[in-house]
Amino acid sequence: VEGTMPEEGRGELISISHRGASAYAPENTLAAFRKGVEMHSDFIEIDVQLSKDGVPVIIHDDTLDRTTDGEGSVSAYTLKELKCLDAGSWFGEEYSNERIPTLDEVLEEFGGKISILVELKSPELYPGVEEKVASALKDHHLVNSTKNDIIIQSFNHASIQKSKELLPEIPHGVLVGNNWANISDRQLEEFATYADYINPNFNIVTKELVERVHNVGMKMYPYTIKKQSEADKLYRLGVDGIITDYPEYADIGE
Ligand code: G3P
Ligand code: CA
Repeated sequence: VEGTMPEEGRGELISISHRGASAYAPENTLAAFRKGVEMHSDFIEIDVQLSKDGVPVIIHDDTLDRTTDGEGSVSAYTLKELKCLDAGSWFGEEYSNERIPTLDEVLEEFGGKISILVELKSPELYPGVEEKVASALKDHHLVNSTKNDIIIQSFNHASIQKSKELLPEIPHGVLVGNNWANISDRQLEEFATYADYINPNFNIVTKELVERVHNVGMKMYPYTIKKQSEADKLYRLGVDGIITDYPEYADIGE
């Protein structure tokens, strides 16, 4: 209807705080997730791995060295040992009390408060991680919840297929890197049999790819946006949301 079209260039994308609002607080800590909520992000994105004693914990690298004062593999330490580490000082001294959060702690504080994009990080290293994440979500009553969304994603597509079987009610996403620029229609259709989202590196996004993804009934949240100009461009290409260190970049035109 004439007069109801939005002003050109304005609109809103779903804003997903990558590892929390990680431009403003140390990634994958409660401080970064709280910042994401404070900045009115739609989702926080978290990376899930397992401790030596099999507890789901939130950290990006499979080693401790970059984001904590520990060293070596995440999987070599029990939860008790991981909890002794400082996960914030590398970002700023004022964050020295930040610990590696458990999945349970994150679901307890943020479940129902903000949507959560759960990445199964390197699930090939952690047999059984899909079942553990599924039971944590069930324990926190986040399956079939109408309050906020949970989406589970991974670069490991076999893991996503498995997770979708465990949690058919939860939307799932396949992450794809730069080497998927020439993805075939057949592959897109195959993804659509178990995934609801295809989340690519933003470098490979074109208008045509967005349309093809939408045509098979999936949505697209590209990663990882670190400039407003990149967010603006992706908005024009028609993506559904952006995974970004700067949640405010999704407010196009504001
Ligand atoms: O959410 C997608 C994005 O997080 C994937 O890359 O390496 O930051 O986990 P990475
Ligand atoms: Ca991630």
